[in-house]
Amino acid sequence: MEQITIKTPSKTYPVYLGEKVIPKLGEVLQSLDPAPKNVLIITDHHVGELYLNDIQSELDEKVSYETFQIEPGDSQKSFDNYYACQSFALEIGLDRSSVILALGGGMIGDIAGFVAGTYMRGIRFIQIPTTILAHDSAVGGKTGINHPEGKNMIGVFHQPEAVIYSTDFLSTLPENEIRSGFAEVIKHALIADPSFYDYLNNNIKSLTDLKGEHLLNCLTRGIEIKNEVVSQDEREKGIRAFLNFGHTLGHAIEGERQYKGITHGEAVARGMVFALSLNKKTVQLGNDLKSWLNDLGFAPIPKNLSVPSLINRMKKDKKAAGGTINMVLLEQIGQPTITPYQANDLEKKLTQFLEEN
Ligand SMILES: NC(=O)c1ccc[n+]([C@@H]2O[C@H](COP(=O)([O-])OP(=O)(O)OC[C@H]3O[C@@H](n4cnc5c(N)ncnc54)[C@H](O)[C@@H]3O)[C@@H](O)[C@H]2O)c1
Repeated sequence: MEQITIKTPSKTYPVYLGEKVIPKLGEVLQSLDPAPKNVLIITDHHVGELYLNDIQSELDEKVSYETFQIEPGDSQKSFDNYYACQSFALEIGLDRSSVILALGGGMIGDIAGFVAGTYMRGIRFIQIPTTILAHDSAVGGKTGINHPEGKNMIGVFHQPEAVIYSTDFLSTLPENEIRSGFAEVIKHALIADPSFYDYLNNNIKSLTDLKGEHLLNCLTRGIEIKNEVVSQDEREKGIRAFLNFGHTLGHAIEGERQYKGITHGEAVARGMVFALSLNKKTVQLGNDLKSWLNDLGFAPIPKNLSVPSLINRMKKDKKAAGGTINMVLLEQIGQPTITPYQANDLEKKLTQFLEEN
């Protein structure tokens, strides 16, 4: 088992990572001060069917628990479900010493973390990620929900008490979710670590390579890079924005498609190719990335996207200011920068990019 310590100004907490690490859960709950008497597990129906029993059997007799399940899919990261979770927590009498367990991918981690961060002004929670993508989302304390006007627009920073990441849970992930998570691994490599990027490029030629030692290396190094960033900038006053590499266009594509038909990571991956196309020094890297993504079977950019609508969404991005869209670009691998664009300039570049891609 790997143990990585996440250090942020507001909290230091462990990530337990490896095969069958779920037995750590009982230990972690007992080590909390005060130890919780009751626990609320929040999961989606799909993950619940697969792994709820494993979690419940760790809790038996140690604490009393209730479960709240929501439908899978990013469109469920909504006000309605947030409200329903809060109502359920009140009904079952969750109190300030209770703990929420977020069992699932980034969707569940984000909404359950937001419920925990706001219920009675904030209670404790533990992330139990079940997707590759969640190596990113379970660490760093960003929680929240979507608004029809934009993704992740409502939320709070709220760090978990621990992250318990059992890699055996990843064996049931469908292929498009493996790709989605791998996109965030590629992102971490591109913004921070040229040798990690070479390692990925040389070793992950197809999705079947993403298992065993390689999978563990991807998750470990991805989490370490995320930790390096959030430990310096927990609340995104500066360098944490680099983690949004690929996300400005990625989020806009997801929004235009109502979070259906293309996964988060697939949209971000195409967003990274676009960002690389904006700097002459990284155009070739972008072309190479594009053919690697195609080899790995990543979904192409959806057809018939409206560029003005995409740009409008990019203007609403939390990093945008006035008519200026701040794009994360790379000078080279490991050297991200923030470059402001006037919306109409970026619209021209995006039109050309979409014609060519
Ligand atoms: N908070 C952050 O810092 C942060 C960072 C990146 C992404 N995110 C958010 O994460 C979300 C995306 O996360 P995600 O890709 O994990 O999506 P997800 O949680 O929606 O899971 C994707 C699908 O996989 C299924 N699934 C989950 N685990 C499974 C398993 N082990 N086996 C089989 N199926 C499984 C789910 O039921 C769902 O249908 C987005 O909402 C994004 O905004 C947050």
